Amino acid sequence: MDRFLFRFGYEAPDEWRNNERDGTDFESSAAVWVSATSAKEAEEIGCGYAERFVAGLFHQAGVTFPGWLQAGYAHWLEPEAEVDTSAGGDLPRIRPAVPVSIETPRLRLRELRSSDFNSVHDYANDPQVIRFMPWGPNTEADTIDFLRLAAGHAFADPRVGYELAITVRDTSELVGAVGLHKTPEVPHDAMLGYCLARPAWGNGYATEAGRAMVDFGFSTLGLESVWAGCDVENTASIRVLEKLGMSRESFHEGKTERRGEGDSYMYRVRASERGGAEPSY
Ligand SMILES: CC(C)(COP(=O)(O)OP(=O)(O)OC[C@H]1O[C@@H](n2cnc3c(N)ncnc32)[C@H](O)[C@@H]1OP(=O)(O)O)[C@@H](O)C(=O)NCCC(=O)NCCS
Repeated sequence: MDRFLFRFGYEAPDEWRNNERDGTDFESSAAVWVSATSAKEAEEIGCGYAERFVAGLFHQAGVTFPGWLQAGYAHWLEPEAEVDTSAGGDLPRIRPAVPVSIETPRLRLRELRSSDFNSVHDYANDPQVIRFMPWGPNTEADTIDFLRLAAGHAFADPRVGYELAITVRDTSELVGAVGLHKTPEVPHDAMLGYCLARPAWGNGYATEAGRAMVDFGFSTLGLESVWAGCDVENTASIRVLEKLGMSRESFHEGKTERRGEGDSYMYRVRASERGGAEPSY
């Protein structure tokens, strides 16, 4: 019998989140070791486990286990790599991951969910939005991969990537995504990226979200510097980076942004340059 690491996350609809009644946020994620003869069998066991686990949490909170949950969780199976047998033999080992949620005056940055597919695909498929991006226009499969990747970051231990939905606090509408990814081999360094749906442009949202992510990187992750690449013709994004206090550090010919076609600049801001000032969104 092989052992598989089954990872799952579960999502609550907005009306369940931070509700006034008990203030509970049900969104979270966990991992469990599953003994099975095949990946398919491990997936079945893992799905059943995820449901029981989440149902238990709902029970503890004194609310009814909602039916939507069955379709609500995403799951990944990994063949056993390094099993920690000290953690109780065949007993399930839960490693809760804390979902990131960052609030700014107008926005809430939160973990992306599989149910964000339509909102994300709408902009990721828009030729004007992806004009200066290294990816896109997305096929549906590309967007599914992106959402899986984003969820995978949330499960990773240690976590090195944060790809968060940008939502408007007043309406919960998803208007884009912002990412902060630690740079491999360079400790305390991370790359910032953002992309917004066209109807949301021009409201200062990219600046507000980017500022919050840079602050999160410096104050919570202990980063020393955050950098971003940007196509030389992407004037709006250059302006955003400047407003985030970033300075142009280098010029790169081709290969990076705009799917390898455009030249780009690299911008950077260091924690030491921020001087501990309060964020000015
Ligand atoms: C670039 C992008 C993120 C900007 O988002 P946004 O929410 O509209 O940005 P903000 O409103 O926070 O700020 C934009 C700034 O650029 C300025 N700007 C916007 N369009 C501009 C243009 N064509 N030329 C010059 N400046 C422009 C705005 O006036 C504003 O600066 P100001 O406050 O000094 O007036 C958005 O256009 C986008 O998602 N584009 C597609 C994806 C992308 O290119 N991502 C960045 C990859 S590096």
